[in-house]
Amino acid sequence: MVQLHDKQFVPFISAEEIDFAIQKMVAQIEDDFADEIPVFIGVLNGSFMVVSDFVKKYSKSCEVSFLKMTSYNGLTSTNEVKELIGLNQDLTGRSVVVIEDIIDTGHTIVELKALIKKQNPKHFKIATLFFKPDAYKKDVKIDYIGIQIPNKFIVGFGLDYDGLGRNLSEVYQLKD
Ligand code: IMP
Ligand code: MG
Repeated sequence: MVQLHDKQFVPFISAEEIDFAIQKMVAQIEDDFADEIPVFIGVLNGSFMVVSDFVKKYSKSCEVSFLKMTSYNGLTSTNEVKELIGLNQDLTGRSVVVIEDIIDTGHTIVELKALIKKQNPKHFKIATLFFKPDAYKKDVKIDYIGIQIPNKFIVGFGLDYDGLGRNLSEVYQLKD
């Protein structure tokens, strides 16, 4: 068990399961972008671990970039999504794959899609390590999903509870 601030978390997804899910997404994306040099865009802070593991497994040429957005306040998603640090790279005509740690309500990804589409990429795809289908309220298609999870709050592997827990190499869920 792990204590973060006032809450207790219990083991939920092992490092092996995470690794397997990332490998599966890499294989699909390598196939789909066989003739391209994709630009992988990680969404900070949460996605730093998944992007790192993802690109280490990606065996072909690629570029990596990050941007930073926020929509979370403690345990609940706020409806307001703010871009914090913009992208300083031209995406015109590029094959862009956004790599998310988790997609919950979908607010963040909808904002991000609008932002990136403005730059006229050739392709725009979305990959996420974790996906909460019961929380997702948007129509935007999620192209690559690592692991679907129930509508529970999780920490670890980049995901935090009020700043803590990102460094955990396995995923824990809130103890009920
Ligand atoms: P959305 O905009 O509601 O899809 O939320 C996306 C962002 O909220 C993610 O990129 C995470 O930073 C954060 N988030 C969503 N669910 C969780 C969770 O279970 N634990 C920690 N952070 C989460
Ligand atoms: Mg995030």
